[in-house]
Amino acid sequence: MAALVDVAREIARRKLETPLPRRWSHVQAVAAKARTVSEAVPAEDRDVLVASAWLHDIGYNAELVDTGFHALDGGRWLRRERFDERIAALVAHHSCAWLEAEERGLGDVLAAEFPREETAVTDALCFSDMTTGPDGQDFEVLERLAEIRSRYGPDHLVTRFIIRAEPEMVAAVQRTERRLPGRVRQPM
Ligand SMILES: [Fe+2]
Repeated sequence: MAALVDVAREIARRKLETPLPRRWSHVQAVAAKARTVSEAVPAEDRDVLVASAWLHDIGYNAELVDTGFHALDGGRWLRRERFDERIAALVAHHSCAWLEAEERGLGDVLAAEFPREETAVTDALCFSDMTTGPDGQDFEVLERLAEIRSRYGPDHLVTRFIIRAEPEMVAAVQRTERRLPGRVRQPM
């Protein structure tokens, strides 16, 4: 299964490193964080978690843009490439994507195309994304949410999404921390 992670990392590198270097910095740090919290998921899911972390933002690559919603576009592209179906769905739904899809009028499309799992893996993926800043720095989750709101501005749909998603994102972070007794701790 280590091959799965290696393939995911190489796809992400090809799609992000040159066209989107800042996003690539973020993704490398999210993948590293997913590895550090991988004990929060069952052993058989650890490579799935880390591979999903590598791939979660590939939909930002301009060549992959379809609907304009990066999570759905990334999931669709992975499916077209016949990548692992579970990982395509994890990417499509990462970090409360269903709420952003609703803001974009794509809620039904996302739900129809990709099953949404609600497991320790989805929590740990959300943890990894939402405690990592745009340059790969470590953030406390509320700090990260504030950073996103200020980056997009008060009227942007992403800001409306983040406000709606905050309780669920904070809960996912907390559940992940509880699964890691005495390990990674974020001040709340
Ligand atoms: Fe991300």
